[in-house]
Amino acid sequence: MPKPTTQFLCSKCGDTFPKWLGKCPSCGEWNTINKFHESKTVDEKKGNITEGVDLFNTSTETSSLSTSITENRISTNISEVDRVLGNGFFLGSFILFGGSPGVGKSTLSLQIFMNINNAFYFSGEESRDQVLSRKKRIIPNPESNKDVAAPDRAPLHQSLHHSQPEKTIFSTNSLEDICETVIKNKPRFVIIDSIQMISREGVGMGQITQIRENAEVLLKLAKSTGTTVCVIGHITKSDEIAGPKILEHLVDVVLYLEGDRGSELRILRSTKNRFGSTQEVGVFEMTNGGLMELKNPSKFFLAERADNAAGSAITVVREGARNFLMEIQALTVKTNFGLPRRTSHGIDLSKLHLLLAVISKFTPFKCDQSDAYLNVVGGLKIKEPASDLAVCAAILSSCTQKEISTDMVIMGEVGLSGEVRHVTALETRLRETEKLGFKKAIVPRIPKGLTPPKHLKIMEVRSIGELMQELFGK
Ligand code: TYD
Ligand code: MG
Repeated sequence: MPKPTTQFLCSKCGDTFPKWLGKCPSCGEWNTINKFHESKTVDEKKGNITEGVDLFNTSTETSSLSTSITENRISTNISEVDRVLGNGFFLGSFILFGGSPGVGKSTLSLQIFMNINNAFYFSGEESRDQVLSRKKRIIPNPESNKDVAAPDRAPLHQSLHHSQPEKTIFSTNSLEDICETVIKNKPRFVIIDSIQMISREGVGMGQITQIRENAEVLLKLAKSTGTTVCVIGHITKSDEIAGPKILEHLVDVVLYLEGDRGSELRILRSTKNRFGSTQEVGVFEMTNGGLMELKNPSKFFLAERADNAAGSAITVVREGARNFLMEIQALTVKTNFGLPRRTSHGIDLSKLHLLLAVISKFTPFKCDQSDAYLNVVGGLKIKEPASDLAVCAAILSSCTQKEISTDMVIMGEVGLSGEVRHVTALETRLRETEKLGFKKAIVPRIPKGLTPPKHLKIMEVRSIGELMQELFGK
């Protein structure tokens, strides 16, 4: 047996080094580097993990998988999930499914599991009965496979020797048991909930180095057996506890489920995908019957919109290949104390500061003595600049106490000289706007060759001053 190689792992960024260092050269953090044994030592410590299959010889399986990408997909029968993955899970891939605690990772992964034949669900956090009671709560997807109601077999040790693997839920914390079960039964799809709750016998769980070592074993398990392995990992809001973050280097696909506790909206994104695009998002609503796909998210975002309310503007946000209409609300009030207060939900606070500065400079409204509060209704975080003009319109509407027409959308990027710049995919955004019954759109200058939809009144603006003119006629 070769001597195990000792490496040193940064718990902040996941980089490895041959010797201990006080400061991580990759991320610059102090005291984050710890001793870490490469997973080559696993079979020495615990022989039975590798029994039957050589987890360290991955060459044959991986090469055969990579030749026929399109045929080797497992559909989840949940179109929002399939879209994010790029047509389903790739066979033999290793997936990290992250998100903050309580966001709905276990719920969505159970729904995916219910829709895939020949799948195993290993829960390290909940008992089998708890998982089953959650399963009862979930309303099955009508498109799912018909063996959804297949009986779930009982304790792990009873299930290990079944020659015909099917849909099975296990409750275990043991990495050895998981590997043994997968090697023997070769299911198509495996979910492990969660990587923080899985350990090798006699080793504590949850430590950074441990998570990394276990993930390496599971990666090799996926590649050597051809089973798709999806591990769930909790992240904190600030992403400080680096547990799952350090696995991003290892895995083929990183999925994140985003959403605020106070809102039912959940967004599934992939931040890394070796087999597809990372542009697409999946949109869900958390209901009493599990996560439901939102086929028309704009309706959800605009559902409770008040008529004729000052401080509200509608914009079109583009996520992947889809356009959502979203309401942006602003409230400006006179500052009571010396320093104005600004808060923002859904848009970067520095962007709000910037747009307030532009308004102060290029319109008659001076915001330096106003508190300003901004909110994107529905809980989605807008990252693209196309919503700048709608943010300005909402702020100006609140300043003037004049409402913006309810059948109008506003989009455009605002520059530091108060100019309005073009937005990407303007034509498809306008088409979506028309489809939802809106009548008017304030947009940047329409480029040559673009034909706006017939039933939409287009108002082109080149500056923030022209926006004021269009909105309030002054
Ligand atoms: P869960 O999937 O356990 O979150 P995670 O695994 O990410 O920690 O989801 C927990 C929350 O979801 C909990 O607050 C209850 C809620 N929930 C529903 O609203 N509807 C449902 O059908 C289910 C199963 C959970
Ligand atoms: Mg969970």
